Amino acid sequence: MSVLRSICWLLLLAVPLAAQAQAPTAPIVVETAHVSLVLAVGQHQKLYQTYLGPKLASPANYQALPQRHEAYVPAGTSNLFEPALRVVHADGNPSLVLAFAGVETAQTGDDVRTTTIHLRDPLYPVEVQLHFVAYQREDVIKTWTEIVHHEKKPVVLANYASAMLHFEAAHYYLTQLHGDWAEEAQQEESALTSGTKVLDTKLGTRAGWYQTPSFFLAPDRPATETTGEVLAGTLAWTGNFRLAFELDNERALRVSAGINPYASEYTLPAEQAFTTPEFIFTYSTQGKGQASRNLHRWARQQGGILDGTLPRLTLLNNWEATFFDFDEPKLDGLMADAAKLGVDLFLLDDGWFGNKYPRKDDTQGLGDWQPTTAKLPNGVGHLVQTATKQGIKFGIWIEPEMVNPKSALYEKHPSWILKLPNRPEDYYRNQLVLDLTNPQVQDFVYGIVDAQLSQGAAYLKWDCNRMITNAYSQHLGKDQSHLYVDYVRGLYRVLARVRQKYPHTPMMLCSGGGARADYGGLKYFTEFWPSDDTDALERVYIQWGFLNFFPSNTLASHVTNWNRSQSLKFRTDVAMMGKLGYDIEVSKLSPEELQFSQQAVKEYKRLSPVIWQGDLYKLRSPYESNQAALVYVAYKQDKAVAFGYNLRTRFHETVLPVKLQGLDPARRYRLTEINLMPGQKSELPANGQTYSGDYLQKVGVMLSDPEAKQLTSHILELTAE
Ligand code: GLA
Repeated sequence: MSVLRSICWLLLLAVPLAAQAQAPTAPIVVETAHVSLVLAVGQHQKLYQTYLGPKLASPANYQALPQRHEAYVPAGTSNLFEPALRVVHADGNPSLVLAFAGVETAQTGDDVRTTTIHLRDPLYPVEVQLHFVAYQREDVIKTWTEIVHHEKKPVVLANYASAMLHFEAAHYYLTQLHGDWAEEAQQEESALTSGTKVLDTKLGTRAGWYQTPSFFLAPDRPATETTGEVLAGTLAWTGNFRLAFELDNERALRVSAGINPYASEYTLPAEQAFTTPEFIFTYSTQGKGQASRNLHRWARQQGGILDGTLPRLTLLNNWEATFFDFDEPKLDGLMADAAKLGVDLFLLDDGWFGNKYPRKDDTQGLGDWQPTTAKLPNGVGHLVQTATKQGIKFGIWIEPEMVNPKSALYEKHPSWILKLPNRPEDYYRNQLVLDLTNPQVQDFVYGIVDAQLSQGAAYLKWDCNRMITNAYSQHLGKDQSHLYVDYVRGLYRVLARVRQKYPHTPMMLCSGGGARADYGGLKYFTEFWPSDDTDALERVYIQWGFLNFFPSNTLASHVTNWNRSQSLKFRTDVAMMGKLGYDIEVSKLSPEELQFSQQAVKEYKRLSPVIWQGDLYKLRSPYESNQAALVYVAYKQDKAVAFGYNLRTRFHETVLPVKLQGLDPARRYRLTEINLMPGQKSELPANGQTYSGDYLQKVGVMLSDPEAKQLTSHILELTAE
């Protein structure tokens, strides 16, 4: 087969390139309802990006666009800036030329059109395919690259971007989400200056700890929530990523997004395609809010997240309530409490496993996934039974990619662990990372998941608490530079296998808080854990940040006792803007608090179709004022849920009404405040009133406490009459 392919290749090379594939006279237009990316073939069959932005009124205008920027720039010949692709051939030649060799388009769904552009080097048998999938209604384009060659020996890929995009503007404003443990997704905007700004990670597993693979880029002037042009982009990769923004001498900006090439030169054998992760982007002319809504709709409806349009489970988690300190009777009691609260599921967190080295704290037991008999004499089966008796489901925490040195797994399989052969082991949270490049380890990890799900667990929390250091895989031998890439591929292989057998079991992706918020992982997960920080004030900012790129039904948001000085109502109202859960001792709630919480769960379930599936409009940013306000509006505009939070509001500070968005101006809406403490009367003047959408959007309503009290909140339900 490969001999045959090589012969075909030689025949192809014998024919002059121009005869093989005529440059299309028409430009290649990848477009959605409102966005166009235009590519054109120019001199020497080079592919240029001639346009990216709002759709032009007349398609004829796409013909005459200037050809200034090679679309996907290869390194080694005339390139002067950040390359998209750098290949070192089998003979050591480090150059690549990419010439247009054909294009295919197909309608692959009523809303979806795919374009594949073939490029090849006229001298060396290397082929590159640029893939574009355009989602019309959502205005989202997904793109990735495939590289394959037919050389006699392997070639080395040194850079391999998923995508490269070009911009021309006087200024560029980049919004990024940076963070740390317990302060994830902090929003920061800056003007790009000449040179290269890089957002990247080299952490391997807990990859998004300090930076996330998502950004906004506004050309010319900063975009607001409702105004300005802005691109929102995100890389679907649960590992090392690199987003580079290079502003050149002529103020052109080259954006490249892909796997971080750091320590990752990839040796590619002939005939084996190297497929990059997907880069997903949208372009809005109406500010960041529209860009977020485009991504949310795409994620929910086009498979960006698992089961995006299906309901989620509300839950009670025991982590903050018990930490490692529990046994069977205690858990049985907590499950009864979960049922009393009215949630769908009880989630057992860390601390249930290990017998030789019971998991009494984080120093031991990780890797030994058998229930600790002293704590749980009747195993997980008993817990599933108790939950079933209580009329709820049972879920369980695992951290299957990791191992404590104090574990039976470590003793049995030292070769399964990533560590340098000749240096001391380097611990973080007393643990090491298993080598997921190794198929045996992949089988082991799959087995852990399968064991839990086959014995009745209806939900998994999949954690990953550390990064990779002292990176070295015994399995990879001489190919150490494949480690970071093959690790993530191994992880995806396991997850794909899990999804084959359990296509719909909800799973939460967690990484020492929110260090794995990306669409590569979310293909297999229904939700992610944004942060271990569950202080409700901090959560407003953290959830605000992630909501820019991910829909609310993916943001696990729990009511906890992290900061008891905040009212239970405030904590609940903050959790209700995402996917509601609890991590409290229900038995310690006062009767009044319990009644409030039971009612809140009911209200949340009733309104969750709007919160999970509606369009999000961010109305007042916590970054710009002492308040935060947002509203979810059902697609049919017949229902909406508005949230208002007073944050560090100061004495006598004026609190202004909030103008709503997304409503039908012609319809009238009845406003009802929900989530009041038992006996509490609404202080909002709009409660019980009916207003037109026009009024609510132009005049607005008070969504905050008129007396400007700190850390107070309100939820208003809007129902069209
Ligand atoms: C991580 C997670 C927490 C919890 C602990 C358990 O820190 O982010 O939610 O599950 O691990 O050890």
